[in-house]
Amino acid sequence: MSNSIKNIAVFTSGGDSPGMNAAIRAVVRTATHKGINAHGIYRGYQGMINGDIKELLPFDVANIIQRGGTILKSARSEEFKTKVGRSKAIENLRKHNIDALVAIGGNGTYTGAKMLLEEHHFPVIGLPGTIDNDINGTEVTIGSDTALNNAVEVIDKIRDTADAHERVFFIEVMGRDSGFIGLNVGLAVGAESILIPEIYSDKASLLNYFDQKEKRKKMFSIVIVTEGNTEGNAMKVADEVKEAYPYLDIRVSIIGHIQRGGSPSAADRIIASKLGFEAVNLLMKGESGFALGYKNSILSKTSFTDAIRKTDNVDMELWDISKILSL
Ligand code: F6P
Repeated sequence: MSNSIKNIAVFTSGGDSPGMNAAIRAVVRTATHKGINAHGIYRGYQGMINGDIKELLPFDVANIIQRGGTILKSARSEEFKTKVGRSKAIENLRKHNIDALVAIGGNGTYTGAKMLLEEHHFPVIGLPGTIDNDINGTEVTIGSDTALNNAVEVIDKIRDTADAHERVFFIEVMGRDSGFIGLNVGLAVGAESILIPEIYSDKASLLNYFDQKEKRKKMFSIVIVTEGNTEGNAMKVADEVKEAYPYLDIRVSIIGHIQRGGSPSAADRIIASKLGFEAVNLLMKGESGFALGYKNSILSKTSFTDAIRKTDNVDMELWDISKILSL
């Protein structure tokens, strides 16, 4: 049964992720299909405070499903962290007659959504948009599949030159608090060693690897260093290994934001489209106040409080496999 919702607004916030556009498109077109108005809030919570809100028609979201980034832009807002900022945001939503929100982003976005819900009882549904895949209550986040593919593509190229020169490459991948990219990419590129934030990076075993390597005279290797791992960034780890093994020819590559850009994979477009569609349908049924996702391929609803709780989603089986295969 439809409730009184007539105007929905969608926004993206925090680090962008490939597939956000597909989600925006799904929200706008589903809303239109259901006979309600869709609006876009530009630049996340800061745009909400500034009143940067425009109606979006189905044609406004044409030709974006294949584009990375977000047509609504993204921003991190210090002002929204204050009560005054949040009150201004709510005032603007009311001024534009917005009845409900679809918030696309990661932990920071969900923290903001939780505040709108708790302080102002504003109906909001969250969609997981982050390459880090570090949201509780969902196995997938929009953009993480593309980020893995982006990283694998460039690391394969680095491997060619590493092999040619018999060099050791320390490659830094994204994931401030999450080893999802590091572990999955490490396995996919056949990395000799992987450092991730969730597992204490035993430098001893890394150095031990280089001891064995010396015995086996295999001079070329790829070490994946995930941002936020316990041993420091790729440059620091590389320096320490160089000190212990001065004869190694070492290079460092920080692949950075390449991982976040580019055309979303089919998987990311499909998840984004499904989640955008489901979010509007649920809002219209009068349901809100949670983050959507998929668990065992079934739609899941998770409170914002649980969704932002630190994840413990390192796939230990994958970790063990990567250890065996890298020998
Ligand atoms: O949260 C996504 C993410 O890409 C992290 O992996 C990374 O640490 C961070 O964003 C980088 O943020 P920024 O683009 O603001 O430097």
